[in-house]
Amino acid sequence: MTEQSDEIQRLRQEAETRSFIEQRLTQLFAPEDDGLRGALQAARDNDMPEIQISPLQGRLLQLLATACNARKILEIGALAGYSGIWLARALPPDGRLISLEVSEKHAAVARASLERAGLGDRAEVRVGSGAELLPQLADEAPFDFIFIDADKPGYPTYLDWAIKLGRPGSIIVADNCIRGGAPLRGESDDEGMRGIAAYDERVASDPRLLSVAFPMDDDGMDGFAISVVRPA
Ligand code: DHB
Ligand code: MG
Repeated sequence: MTEQSDEIQRLRQEAETRSFIEQRLTQLFAPEDDGLRGALQAARDNDMPEIQISPLQGRLLQLLATACNARKILEIGALAGYSGIWLARALPPDGRLISLEVSEKHAAVARASLERAGLGDRAEVRVGSGAELLPQLADEAPFDFIFIDADKPGYPTYLDWAIKLGRPGSIIVADNCIRGGAPLRGESDDEGMRGIAAYDERVASDPRLLSVAFPMDDDGMDGFAISVVRPA
């Protein structure tokens, strides 16, 4: 064999191992039930983009929300309700998930997904833009946990609202904080990439927050930024 084909073989084996690890960890820690599979199916049936978080990321959201004793959770960007199911499952029966969604159609799909998963009593999907809905949430604050997974140019504004609507100890998670590395290079002319770059820089340096980000999705090409609001 040539050196080149040895290298190709090695890369293929590595990719297979990475895929095996992801599958096995998912089976062990984050197996999907009918409720979660139903949300994914609903996304396909309704021609929605298949850009849900991974099951392991869902489990991480659930774990973090449980760790901070979340009773009130805010989600910005519902899509088909997949992440909402993971989040609402961290709530006690009298807890509340408020999920904001700009698309009326996506909101209807998300509502049906949460209902099918048995979470209709504690989860609510509100239709509108963040700019419209976030200022209306003051009376329902503070939120113990905030998950941002919406339009990328909006991320810096969503962070401002998350801090405003949270409290010391609230956890703020944002999806897609790596996006193949472009936001980290700091040279993108794409508005979404610039929004994420600004988000990453801000959560990394804002003295009110303690933050970290991990490559954990899409083969290490994307992942969450996770922040906690520091004690005042
Ligand atoms: C896109 C949005 C997401 O939230 C995501 O997780 C992946 C891709 C997108 O708009 O392309
Ligand atoms: Mg996302």
